[in-house]
Amino acid sequence: MHKYEKGSQLGTGAYGTVFKGKNRETNEIVALKRVRLDNDDEGVPSSALREICLLKELKHKNIVRLQDVLHNEKKLTLIFEHCDQDLKKYFDSLNGEIDPNVVKSFFYQLLKGLSFCHSHNILHRDLKPQNLLINKNGVLKLADFGLARAFGVPVRFYSAEVVTLWYRPPDVLFGAKLYSTDVDIWSAGCIFAEMANAGRPLFPGSNVEDQLKRIFKLLGTPTEETWPGLTRLPEYKTFPYYHPTTNFSQVVPKLNAKGRDLLQKLLVCFPPKRISAEDALCHSYFSDVPNDIRD
Ligand SMILES: Nc1ncnc2c1ncn2[C@@H]1O[C@H](COP(=O)(O)OP(=O)(O)OP(=O)(O)O)[C@@H](O)[C@H]1O
Ligand SMILES: [Mg+2]
Repeated sequence: MHKYEKGSQLGTGAYGTVFKGKNRETNEIVALKRVRLDNDDEGVPSSALREICLLKELKHKNIVRLQDVLHNEKKLTLIFEHCDQDLKKYFDSLNGEIDPNVVKSFFYQLLKGLSFCHSHNILHRDLKPQNLLINKNGVLKLADFGLARAFGVPVRFYSAEVVTLWYRPPDVLFGAKLYSTDVDIWSAGCIFAEMANAGRPLFPGSNVEDQLKRIFKLLGTPTEETWPGLTRLPEYKTFPYYHPTTNFSQVVPKLNAKGRDLLQKLLVCFPPKRISAEDALCHSYFSDVPNDIRD
């Protein structure tokens, strides 16, 4: 730990507390994430360590770099590249207006990072604006990739506060356990709509039932016909029948027709029908993305 100087607290999340820090050898600014462990007395589980060390090899411009992993019997500290702010704080600074080109650039970069991780069989499983970090130069990076597999999907913070459900897909809300890349695609769709609406969340549910109701009111209540296997999900419950909203222009009024088409391909209740990150990058909405972002 003496290699790093600990500075001010940047925030706290489901796995622990994040501090600003400085590498004493290089003077580089970093983010130190101190991970709290459930079974404190048993030390750092070797399975978690194995997963975490694999993440050190995950190198991409749109992924927050995991530079170092420090651990002793009790504590695990992850050293990440430092970014200027997270997307949630960026939204809060907007006053309800966002440049459509910024939306396109951020979402393109989000999908680039996502497609890179998915091609390496790494899922996020807890994508949300707090886990998207941005730099002043307009670069967006995904944070906390792979942590869910190492430590489990967060359900609760260590206080009484419940982790947000707003970005969870209906299959997970119904208790599906076989997570695949489509989980992240759903979250990405929710974040895309939220970006287009300058930070207004798409489905701000207050509990699992309310969350599902909000989703079905927009997309229509799924049935065994539209979603084979739906009624056999572990926590399946029946919901009133809602018709799908055909007019997405009221949902995301600032987004153009191509953007709305992409959004509808991301937000599909039946998981296998959701578009992949790779295919989403080729959607016509992105045809005019500047080359410096595309690289
Ligand atoms: N690499 C980083 N650079 C700058 N700020 C960061 C960095 N990593 C995290 N932060 C800040 O610290 C906050 C807390 O991070 P943390 O990941 O612990 O919690 P979270 O993202 O809110 O939730 P979760 O634990 O589910 O990821 C973030 O929301 C972000 O504002
Ligand atoms: Mg985080």
